[in-house]
Amino acid sequence: MKIKNVLAIETSCDDTSVAIVSDGGVVRALCSANQDLAHQPFGGIVPEIASRNHTLNLLPLVDSCFQKANMDWQDIDGLAVTSRPGLMGSLLVGVVTAKTLALAKEKPFVTINHLEAHIWSPFIKDHSYSISEDFTPPFVSLVVSGGHTHLYRVKDLGKYEVLGATLDDAAGEAFDKFAKMLGLGFPGGVAVEKNSQGGRADAFSFPRALWNKDNCNFSFSGLKTEALRVLKDLPVDKRPIADLCASYQEAIVDVLVHKIDKAVEKTGLKRVAVAGGVSANKRLREKIEQWAQQKEVAVSIPPLRYCTDNAAMVGYVGLRRLQSGQRDSWEASPSASSLEGDFIDVRSG
Ligand code: KG4
Ligand code: ZN
Repeated sequence: MKIKNVLAIETSCDDTSVAIVSDGGVVRALCSANQDLAHQPFGGIVPEIASRNHTLNLLPLVDSCFQKANMDWQDIDGLAVTSRPGLMGSLLVGVVTAKTLALAKEKPFVTINHLEAHIWSPFIKDHSYSISEDFTPPFVSLVVSGGHTHLYRVKDLGKYEVLGATLDDAAGEAFDKFAKMLGLGFPGGVAVEKNSQGGRADAFSFPRALWNKDNCNFSFSGLKTEALRVLKDLPVDKRPIADLCASYQEAIVDVLVHKIDKAVEKTGLKRVAVAGGVSANKRLREKIEQWAQQKEVAVSIPPLRYCTDNAAMVGYVGLRRLQSGQRDSWEASPSASSLEGDFIDVRSG
């Protein structure tokens, strides 16, 4: 049977998302429910609240997708669901729902690695966005989110080498923790970006860890410690919030661009894709574009709706995997971390 339309489910963290993706990676419908308000009082994601909300949100979102796409179960040829890495309780809701629907509707299904989905998110197509035709594998990919900061060499679907990764906190986590320290709300990246407007990026000198190391790894935990030290010396009512946010954001952005540069230098590849929640950051997008022009590198960053967690990216990878004949068995289960074989770590130290 030819696989033309896939129903995809994403519940790895706090966003519940469902999409219908068609042949060629075209999004027919994308319906998501974010839980920001539910987690805001805690300044971070509470896993138990996240999974409970997924159970409430998921099936209504499936119905909304069918309505939006003007489609029915008979139009769906398979299902794709994020099964790793992520919060166990959250993943479980998505995987069990996908398996139940696949069994009830007699459709094949595949489980997808969330990071692989982010990697391919620039390739999703819709009525107003598609990637340049010249942008094809192999390419360097930076996946930068709340839980991950990874640089990959992408050879093809399923063929990924880890060039670098964070040794401690993820870049998004560094944004979230700083926003929490300043009481700016959650999710922190958006709040820090908003509050950085009009601020001086050189007002405070935050550390750029591992800058002179000849590798593609990151470290953001020292940044957080330095921020705590700086804030301790500043009375709450005398904090120059815009300067603090602009300087902190600049430190993260500088390191991300510097390590992309290193990955390009090491691989000799002239195409770079950037994905994940932090790639929504305007300063990061601006600085990457500037760097790319200077180095004559082609850069692809998806529109904001595909940067943060969404099921369209899961549908894109699911469609390609189902089309290539992959099927998962009913024993498929979620995993908090990636599986052996998902990525090959080629870091030498
Ligand atoms: O990819 P994502 O939606 O979920 C994960 O897989 O983690 O990424 C969420 C992360 C959060 O840490 C959030 O603060 C960050 O992405 N983020 C941003 C921006 N929008 C979201 N960070 C910086 N600037 C933004 N505009
Ligand atoms: Zn993500």
